[in-house]
Amino acid sequence: MKRMSATLKNKINLARVPQHLAIIMDGNGRWAKKKGMLRTFGHQNAIKAVRSAIEGCNELNIPYLTLYAFSSENWKRPTEEVNFLMNLLFKTLTKELHTFQENNIRLRTIGSTQLLPAQAQAELNKVIDATKNNTKATLTLALSYGSQDEIIDAVKKICKEVVGNQKSIESISPEDFRNYLYTTELPDVDLMIRTSGELRISNFLLWQSAYAELHFTKVLWPDFRKKDLFKAVIDYQSRERRFGKTGEQLV
Ligand code: IPE
Ligand code: IPE
Ligand code: MG
Repeated sequence: MKRMSATLKNKINLARVPQHLAIIMDGNGRWAKKKGMLRTFGHQNAIKAVRSAIEGCNELNIPYLTLYAFSSENWKRPTEEVNFLMNLLFKTLTKELHTFQENNIRLRTIGSTQLLPAQAQAELNKVIDATKNNTKATLTLALSYGSQDEIIDAVKKICKEVVGNQKSIESISPEDFRNYLYTTELPDVDLMIRTSGELRISNFLLWQSAYAELHFTKVLWPDFRKKDLFKAVIDYQSRERRFGKTGEQLV
């Protein structure tokens, strides 16, 4: 396994890695059910995959990693599952603070985190504060996150400024609009990965992924390892990112 990931890593041009990688970590429930276990067993086993993704980004010097951990729609799941996920978030943050420090990673969140249980919010604030001066990479957890909510929040902020005469309607542009999103500090997404074989975006970073390369893999999230990340980056590097231009214009 180690050798396989090393062989794959050799195929990656380290000068052309994505600057912002976003991952829709999907398939925990199906992974557990395949093993005859409860869905929560899949969530429990998702942590190893998260660690692999962080380590892989660290090795490739990918500066921004954003993980979709809990969507605004995921509140509709059975209470026991939601509670389990919230508790897992709390426990993992407590346990992994040293990992963030050792790897010089700064933690941030996007989403309506005020809806999370107080204990999880407190732990998040603690880790965010403790890692705020770390410089190697930024790990953003999308928690209670929905891209449509984010866009509507941005529109509301802009409307208030316009109504309050702090902003002109003419000043609204894509470059300006991005400053009102939760992701102001992050560059646009270069590569978006979704595991588990589902071919959809599920309300994740819709604005920020306007020109992202999409990589779908059938691997279920708890099985995701560094080799899968490297495969996705190799796939990414095989794409021609034209941004509307012709291929000829790029050379
Ligand atoms: C992803 O796995 C984790 C969350 C959405 C919290 P799922 O729990 O969606 O697993 P499947 O898609 O049902 O297999
Ligand atoms: C998307 O996965 C959200 C996260 C990975 C946190 P879901 O499993 O909730 O997505 P849908 O509803 O099947 O599209
Ligand atoms: Mg799912």
